Amino acid sequence: MTLEEVINEVLQNIRPTEEERAFVHSLMDELKEVARGTAEGLGLDVNPYFVGSTAKDTYLAGDHDFDLFLAFPIDTPIEELREKGLELGTAIAEKLDSYEIAYAEHPYVRARYKGVKVDLVPCYDVKDWKDVRTAVDRSILHTKWVNENLKGRNDEVRLLKRFLKGINAYGSEIYVRGFSGYLAEILVIKYGSFLEVLKNADFMLRQKVIDPGNWLRKEYETAMKTVKREAEEDRPLVVIDPVDPRRNVAANLSWEKFGRFYFKARGFIEGPSAEFFFPSERGIGNYLEELRRKGTHLLTLTFDKPNLIDDILLPQLERSARGFERALSREDFTVLGWDVGHSGGKAFIMLELDRLERERVRIKPGPEFFTERGWDFYRKNERVWLVGKRLYAEKKTDEHIVDILGKLLEKNQVAMGKGIREKVKRAEILLDYVPKELEKEAYLFLSREKWGLRE
Ligand code: CTP
Ligand code: MN
Repeated sequence: MTLEEVINEVLQNIRPTEEERAFVHSLMDELKEVARGTAEGLGLDVNPYFVGSTAKDTYLAGDHDFDLFLAFPIDTPIEELREKGLELGTAIAEKLDSYEIAYAEHPYVRARYKGVKVDLVPCYDVKDWKDVRTAVDRSILHTKWVNENLKGRNDEVRLLKRFLKGINAYGSEIYVRGFSGYLAEILVIKYGSFLEVLKNADFMLRQKVIDPGNWLRKEYETAMKTVKREAEEDRPLVVIDPVDPRRNVAANLSWEKFGRFYFKARGFIEGPSAEFFFPSERGIGNYLEELRRKGTHLLTLTFDKPNLIDDILLPQLERSARGFERALSREDFTVLGWDVGHSGGKAFIMLELDRLERERVRIKPGPEFFTERGWDFYRKNERVWLVGKRLYAEKKTDEHIVDILGKLLEKNQVAMGKGIREKVKRAEILLDYVPKELEKEAYLFLSREKWGLRE
């Protein structure tokens, strides 16, 4: 199939039908009316705005959630915004089908209505980046900017999002570290189309800085500070947010996910196929076979997942895994790789090692034999010998990794994420074995398919 044929076929599957579109629009009108009425009833001066992909008409067919932002005047004190925002959100949600309260920087309401998810999020009614006070305030500006600049290329965004989902590089959540929907929109606006974004994968990496809002001309100092900061953080891309020169839209994009996009973009252009967008289910292999094939070993620390959000838990697990990597390397183990995560209520740190046991003795070099300390060394050690004029002795040491780890943890010699230190210390240690709920994770890690480029 040619590029155009594949793209047309994919578009049939991701472009919402007229029916879906009509449903989305009527729901937005209805929800806005409910929000306006409820705010008035409570005597609140609040403007409801839709943000997110339904408001920008960049949602994928069948995948339409609503983000209804409840915008308070910017001089509202923050406590009042929290309190009244939740009150208003709840009052609106009472008129919908069901709801629960969710916690982010500020609490908000997650409701359901006619089978779709509706988030009711309090924020400030900002007109400008200088007014931004909470993490969600920019969204209204994003929606406005995209709607003004997309100029009918909505399907191009759909293609790019679906492509990124297919290659597993979509989503800016911390456990994905891929492209956000907003970043996909910006790239389409900047390069003109889905295909042009793919063709520019190499160019954008070399150019590094993308500045669709021309901040480097209007607000040089602020924008340059962002560029410098983000370059120091070694981000693959610095996309200065067209609505806020202080922010890199691609701050959460990892090298691994950009790299995936880099290879797959070229792969698609050279061999177009709908598989990129809708990959067929691949079977998961057996982690024990991977261990046999590689001749390596798997050490897993696992404990009940603490009640922390991923944004906090995952970086802590990563820090701990690096701590184990360093500590075990000092103890003469080779750490071939590590992975962290949680699955089925269990948090885990996995380390791939060359061995689980080491020699029973270490060779301890001593002083030169004719010195004062030489006699001392000679008396204190049982088995002593000379190599040239230097004394050597044998020292017994723990041979098994479980004992070694136990001592390292006891002596606090493993750098670790603060919030999970105690949990990790009491973690269950598993060797060359994982429980059912971690088998898939173990396979994806050991085979490196988790970061693989070929499949
Ligand atoms: N947002 C952001 N940065 C992120 C994630 C979200 O700025 N890393 C803001 C953007 O303003 C975005 C809005 O939150 O428009 C909604 O985010 P989300 O629902 O994740 O993205 P959508 O654009 O709605 O895409 P999708 O189709 O995946 O829902
Ligand atoms: Mn969304």
